[in-house]
Amino acid sequence: MEAILLVGGQGTRLRPLTLNTPKPLLPTAGVPFLAHQLARARSFGVRRIVFATSYRASMFAEAFGDGSAFGLSLEYMTEETPLGTGGAIRNAAQALTCGPDAPVLVLNGDILSGHDITEQVALHVSRGAALTLHLTEVDDPTRFGCVPTDEDGRVTAFLEKTPNPVTNRINAGCYVFTRSAIDAIPAGQVVSVERETFPGMIDAGELVLGYADRSYWLDVGTPAAFVQGSCDLVLGRMPSGALPGPCGEFLALPEARVSPRAKISGGTVVGPRAVVGADAVVRGSVLDADCVIESGATVAGSVVGAGARVSSGAVLRDAVIGDRAVIGAGNELLAGARVWPGVTLPPRAVRFSSDV
Ligand code: GTP
Repeated sequence: MEAILLVGGQGTRLRPLTLNTPKPLLPTAGVPFLAHQLARARSFGVRRIVFATSYRASMFAEAFGDGSAFGLSLEYMTEETPLGTGGAIRNAAQALTCGPDAPVLVLNGDILSGHDITEQVALHVSRGAALTLHLTEVDDPTRFGCVPTDEDGRVTAFLEKTPNPVTNRINAGCYVFTRSAIDAIPAGQVVSVERETFPGMIDAGELVLGYADRSYWLDVGTPAAFVQGSCDLVLGRMPSGALPGPCGEFLALPEARVSPRAKISGGTVVGPRAVVGADAVVRGSVLDADCVIESGATVAGSVVGAGARVSSGAVLRDAVIGDRAVIGAGNELLAGARVWPGVTLPPRAVRFSSDV
């Protein structure tokens, strides 16, 4: 089976991590995020994948080449200007080789999902659907496409990011299209599948099905979710054939230097050549290549970019530190704080009451 992978978005919610690296290529549990998706697609019988690229397009071919190292055949289709999710699918479809009646898998490039793709495709084919959407349940559906279905699994509406969701079932970002339904999307224009194609197909009476399940599912579009996804992969909560080696409470990549007196846990990744000093505490975080966590620093639920330095006694909780930034001693960065690449935060003196 052939697939289209949507990887052209700018990943604005993950800035500054995505300023230089597209979201699907961010190091996640030791490999580019997409490597986990490619391994999974392959395990379900997908052999040929067309990447729909736009933002920093050339980096994808540099990372994955012709796909032979992954047992896949990869093609790259680039939009001169971003065409939105629907326009991107239509543009990428020019590189498909299948006929009009064949099922085509379409994957968002920022989703970790444990669902059974074979079952989703089998449902699509057996019912002769035009489109079959993977659906999952979340506590807060307002940030997603809300997708009600009838008792036969037929999708009755597609309500993108509505403040008043009628169900907790949402669009999980993995679609099976019959090829002819992709060819019906207008070519060469900006189209959103969520706002135009899906509602249009439902209104036109085409058979649009929901494949709902409760397997592991995560949209890694925000910093907190990105860190969680990496940790879940390391801890084995989301199985992946692309992990670079055996993992325990943490994954140390080649030439990482971790002091035996450091406390590292929660599925943390210590990137290649990264250093973690004595008595540093690192929980559930992503430490990129060549970064340094000095002795006595605390890092939790955070991303520390490549070559960045967190000085002694600094505290990071739910923070994102850009590449090569320096966090001086005594700084405390909490709750979504972001530091841009190359920025230096000078040390902060710890004040004692006798100083005042
Ligand atoms: P944010 O800017 O943080 O919302 O992230 P994003 O740009 O990735 O957008 P979003 O999560 O809504 O996109 C869903 C999927 O579609 C992602 O895999 C994107 O890479 C992809 N995508 C979004 N817009 C385009 C586009 O215009 N062209 C292509 N090729 N892919 C797109």
